[in-house]
Amino acid sequence: MKTAKLLSIAAAMALATSIAFAEQSQGYTPSPENLQARKEFAENRFGIFLHWGIYSTYAQGEWYFQNYPIDKYEYAKAADAFYPHRFNAAEWVSAIKASGAKYICITSRHHDGFSMWDTDQSEYNIVDATPFKRDVLRELADECERQGIKLHFYYSHIDWGRDDYPKGRTGLKVIGINRDKENWSQYYNFMNAQLTELLTNYGKIGAIWFDGLWDHDQDTVPFDWQLEEQYALIHRLQPACLVGNNHHITPFEGEDIQIFERDIPGENKAGLSGQDISRLPLETCQTMSWAWGYKLEDQNYKSTEELIQYLVSTAGKGANLLLNIGPRANGELPERAVERLYAMGEWMNVNGETIYGTTAGDIPAQEWGVTTRKGDRLFVHIFNLKDTELVLPLECKVKKAFTFADKTPVKFKKTTEGVKLIFDEVPSGVDYIVELITK
Ligand code: GLC
Repeated sequence: MKTAKLLSIAAAMALATSIAFAEQSQGYTPSPENLQARKEFAENRFGIFLHWGIYSTYAQGEWYFQNYPIDKYEYAKAADAFYPHRFNAAEWVSAIKASGAKYICITSRHHDGFSMWDTDQSEYNIVDATPFKRDVLRELADECERQGIKLHFYYSHIDWGRDDYPKGRTGLKVIGINRDKENWSQYYNFMNAQLTELLTNYGKIGAIWFDGLWDHDQDTVPFDWQLEEQYALIHRLQPACLVGNNHHITPFEGEDIQIFERDIPGENKAGLSGQDISRLPLETCQTMSWAWGYKLEDQNYKSTEELIQYLVSTAGKGANLLLNIGPRANGELPERAVERLYAMGEWMNVNGETIYGTTAGDIPAQEWGVTTRKGDRLFVHIFNLKDTELVLPLECKVKKAFTFADKTPVKFKKTTEGVKLIFDEVPSGVDYIVELITK
């Protein structure tokens, strides 16, 4: 081969390498503000999820629109009946803050496509389409700012009612959709314009919480959601805003947190959480009863004890708990939910130190409970022990052991398996916490 040709091949290869490198370095690098927000998010450990929309008027959960063959124009009439006269942002935020939660995530637009703010992108919104005419997201955003609690927006990638949304595997029973009008780029622009409003007009937003990507997980040709550009838009508008996506798979580039639905990371009881655990801050979303959106027959609330142990167990795995409430159509938080909020708060007021700002403990979840760690302090959370002895398979050395509640010393002994705690009586209560000082 002639030297000139060899040289030009070498030059082409060098160019290709530099292009590949440039492409790589164009990848997502979280800003310092974003990294700080991730840290704070993980320290906060506890948030409250709110599923609220015109679906609440049907009181059948947020999937009602697609569960039956329902005409979209008939469904939309719920907007004209949506008058949540008991809605009071200050009361909501106070009750949520009382629980010890550090952030609120509310559905800005769920799969039914109804927008809960004064959007210019569609008249199908709370200000233009309901007699209530109030922008509840604005009221909530102002109140969160006033009471010092972060606000996150849930945003659905799905829209069961719009013609231009390219239909996936859900929403197919909805009547009145003209599938000839499917138009991804139009729908994508609509979403981005809505996200721009949410991130421009409502102050600092802690996170955008996407949902619905799984709608296209059975497509024969992989569906391109153009997430990278959408995530970049969010980070450009608010660098500290965390991007999370409830897609049930390993996080994509540009995501700042990893979400697990109805399961503590590493468990997969509900069948939606088989994905690997990443190094991003983790969040488990879970319901207080069964449904997300208000459902009349769903009054089977988890007990306060169960919820506290779930929160502690989530922290024991190094994850946050985003605990859901479905407010009623009249704007009230169901009283059982409010009772749970206050009861959890009472517990968090006393024991929050063993949850906020902790990392996963040294020992994976056991029959008897879990552990959390903060520096040299290891918190042993005992939910269920039938004995006066507990062997902890610890690798570190223990300097001191005492009850977290009243600092009473707890006897301990080094054994071949680790460290044995010896109690005078069988530990009882919702969470009997022993603090170990380790070295
Ligand atoms: C699921 C449901 C949705 C709910 C979400 C909350 O993805 O589709 O209705 O909002 O879970 O985690």
